[in-house]
Parts: sequence; structure tokens; C-alpha cells
Amino acid sequence: MKDIAVIGVGYVGLVTATCFADLGNHVIAMDVAEDKIDKLLQGIMPIYEPGLAEVVKRNVDAGRLHFTTSYTDTIKNARFVFICVGTPSGVDGEADLQYVRQAAETIARIMDHPLIIINKSTVPVGTGDWVADIIRKHQPRPIDFSVVSCPEFLREGSALQDFMNPDRTVLGSLDHEAADEVAQLHLPLRAPIVVTDLRTAEMIKYASNAFLATKISFINEIANICEALGADVKEVAAGMGLDKRIGKMFLDSGIGYGGSCFPKDVLALHHMAIEQEQQPQLLEAVMSINLSRRHQVIAKLRDLLGDDLRGKTIGLLGLAFKPNTDDMRDAPAITIAGLLVEAGATVKGYDPVAMDVARQVMPPATLCTLCKTPYEVCEGCDAVVIVTEWNEFKQLDMLRIKASMRQPIIVDGRNIYDPVMMREMGFVYRGFGRGYSGDIHLDGV
Ligand code: UDX
Ligand code: UDX
Repeated sequence: MKDIAVIGVGYVGLVTATCFADLGNHVIAMDVAEDKIDKLLQGIMPIYEPGLAEVVKRNVDAGRLHFTTSYTDTIKNARFVFICVGTPSGVDGEADLQYVRQAAETIARIMDHPLIIINKSTVPVGTGDWVADIIRKHQPRPIDFSVVSCPEFLREGSALQDFMNPDRTVLGSLDHEAADEVAQLHLPLRAPIVVTDLRTAEMIKYASNAFLATKISFINEIANICEALGADVKEVAAGMGLDKRIGKMFLDSGIGYGGSCFPKDVLALHHMAIEQEQQPQLLEAVMSINLSRRHQVIAKLRDLLGDDLRGKTIGLLGLAFKPNTDDMRDAPAITIAGLLVEAGATVKGYDPVAMDVARQVMPPATLCTLCKTPYEVCEGCDAVVIVTEWNEFKQLDMLRIKASMRQPIIVDGRNIYDPVMMREMGFVYRGFGRGYSGDIHLDGV
């Protein structure tokens, strides 16, 4: 049993704190956002993550997991301090490290015993050294400490499983004893542990996310070519993925990636490269292809409804950036709704979980109606776009939907439907790379 402090209880910090507690450690987690801590002290989760509430409750009840807004209470008995604060995109894509700085300075000022400080937040290469400099500078008196990079590889919606069943743990530090102590924390996870230097560990995180984003933009470029040549990209991906050198994951084509990580991390890596006078052409292509996917939704709608979308009603099914989360950071739905409103269309939207967040980030209610059910979205629509592949959209009563729409047009942004079945039901169906669109071109009515 170890004493662990976690700074920042967002999507990553709360899962990290909860899982280390569930492994038997004593964890105190803090956040500067009092409302988040107040909610957690009442047993209310500040984020949507399947299964999290139960594990939090179990560990709070067992006295292993505590929440506070006090830095002092958080680190007073800690041996390990995980920094899990936000690292959003700043100017020209550079990661904004102000919160990491605040955390490091505060830890330095109040620490009164040796600590191992662990960067869990995704931070640019070299940040570990920078954090060490900050701590040395702000300590009232020299106290031993070490900085270790321990990047997270958690996917929202499966974060608990990803934490408890990692493919690997990556640790970076110049202090091998500190790295070894942090490795001991991770032994119960029974996964390979890669121990390297700080910069290499930080780069493993960026390179991993950038590669996954590259896979997605790759299959999306293949989807475009499939559409032109009459091949079905879903079958292509299936045929590719059986090659263990390629792997079947992250080959789902559609409207591309969003969220708080891929967009931010690819941009930050690009920025690091430019700063070093490199030419990150592939990263630029990955970002450009990804952004174009959202614009392709509009192009498909114009192709089906005519260039002038004014007066058209378009329904968006799914608003969160991916299923099983309420997170709408850089969600494609936001871009698509904005482009539709700009084109004079009326937008309707629904998401099984992210409605509270959607009210804050989607266009105003006068331009975008948020509905209570997917069926309500589809009523009176000239077209419906599948934006997020929630399971509940996969078995909808499509004939009921068709009867309620002004025009039976479906733009399947996540390729969840079978084009043949959709056309047999009388829909005009457009996927992304699902062979020839082959639809009867409706005159812009
Ligand atoms: C964050 C980073 O954005 C991501 O790049 C990294 O991989 C993991 O940590 P996430 O947990 O999704 O990801 O961020 P967010 O949900 O914004 O949570 C950050 C938390 O830190 C927030 O609750 C915020 O209130 C808190 N915070 C921020 C502090 O506790 N102290 C601060 O000084 C600033
Ligand atoms: C990602 C990484 O997977 C995780 O390792 C890292 O720690 C944080 O960033 P996350 O962003 O939560 O996790 O979700 P993920 O499941 O990776 O999906 C990211 C985006 O890619 C989503 O917008 C998703 O819709 C999209 N995606 C994913 C595709 O478009 N196609 C795919 O095949 C897979």
C-alpha cells in the first residue's frame, strides 16, 4: 500500500486516482474546481465514464480514496504525486502548460519531504526537465525529489479497462530508483513496463497518438478512393486488418477523429517539429484530411439537397466526439452544426449522454434544436447525419424514421448501416467510402 496524491480530477486524473485506490493504495485526489470536488464528495461523478461511479464509491467507502481542494492535504503524506491537470492547445497549437506550471510551483512551495512527481498529463518533449527546474527554483529549501514521465493511454468510454489492462506502462526518468518505485506501483497490472529517459517517454506518448490519428486519416483517404472506384472501405479495412502487421483497430472510416487528445496532440507534435525546423508533412496531411471529413458531410448534403441549404432541416444523431462519453471537446458535431447554420440550414440534434454539454457548445437553440430522442430529431428532416456511432442508433425503427422525414436521406458519418438494406427500405443512403454512392440524385427539392 502506497500513499498517492493526484492533482486534477478530470477524465484522466479521476480514473487514475480511482484505479490506484482500487489496487489497494491510499489516494488523495484534488482539483482547483470546487464544484467538481463538491460533486465527488456527494458521490456524483463530474464526468461520464461507464462503471466509474461504482468503483469510486467502493474505494471512498473503503477509506482508500479521498477528495479535496487542498494541495497541502493532498501531498502531506504522499510518496507519489501524479500531475493530471489539463494541457489544452495554446497559441499555434503549442500545448498550454500553465496548469502544469501552477501545479509544479505549488507542490514545490508546500512539499516538506522527498517526493516522486509523475507527469501523467500529455506534455511536450522536455517538459519533465522543465518541471524539475520549476520545483528546484520554488522550493523554500532543497528537498529531494524526482520527476518521472508516465503518460496515459486511456480511451474515454473504456478508461477503467484501459487502466487496469494496459498494453504497456511507459516510464521516463533520469533517476532509475524513482522509475523503479513507480514501476512497483504498476506491477499489479501485470503488463510490460518500458523504462526510458524523460524525453523518450514523452515522445512515446505523442508518437503513439499521432500514429493512431494517422491510421484514421489513412483509412479515410482510402475511403475517398473507394467511393470513386466502387469499393467498400469497410470490407477493405477488414481485409487489411487481418494482417497482424496492420491490425484491425483504428481503421473505421467516417467523419474522423475529435476529442481532447488526437487533435491537440497531433498539433502539439507538429508544433514541436516546426520549432526544430523539421518539415512534418505527414502530420500536416493527417490534420488536413481529418478536418476535410467534416466538410465532406456538407458536400454530401449539398450533392443530395442542392447547393442552397437554406430552409433545409438537418438532423444530427450523436453529438459526443465518440460513443460512451459525454465529452464534446473538438467534437465533429460542433463543426458540422456550425457549417450547417452558416449555410442557412436548421439543425436538430440528439445524444444519449452528452446533452448537458451540448447545450453549452452547440449553436443557440434558435438555430439548433436539441431533442429528447433520435426519433424526434428525424421528424421533418430533409436529411439525417449519423455523427457518433452510439449503439442505440444501430437498431432504430428505420421505417418509422423514414415515414417521419421530409426526405428519406441518410448521411452515415460512421458507416454503421448496410447500404443495400438502407436502399431496399427506400432511403437515399450515403456512407463514407461505401462503394459507388449510386443513389438516384434527387433534384434539390
Ligand atoms: C488532461 C490533459 O488534457 C491531457 O492532455 C492529458 O493526457 C491528461 O490530462 P483530461 O483529464 O481530459 O486530460 O483534462 P480535463 O478533463 O480538462 O481535467 C483536467 C483537470 O485538472 C480539471 O478538472 C481541472 O479543473 C484540473 N486543474 C486544472 C487543476 O486541478 N489544477 C490546475 O491548475 C488546472
Ligand atoms: C485516444 C487514444 O486512443 C488514447 O490512447 C489516448 O490516451 C487519448 O486519446 P480517445 O481520444 O479517448 O483516446 O478515444 P479513441 O477511441 O482513441 O478515439 C479518438 C477519436 O478517433 C474519436 O473521435 C473516434 O471517433 C475516432 N476514431 C477512432 C475514428 O474515427 N476511427 C477509428 O477507427 C477509431
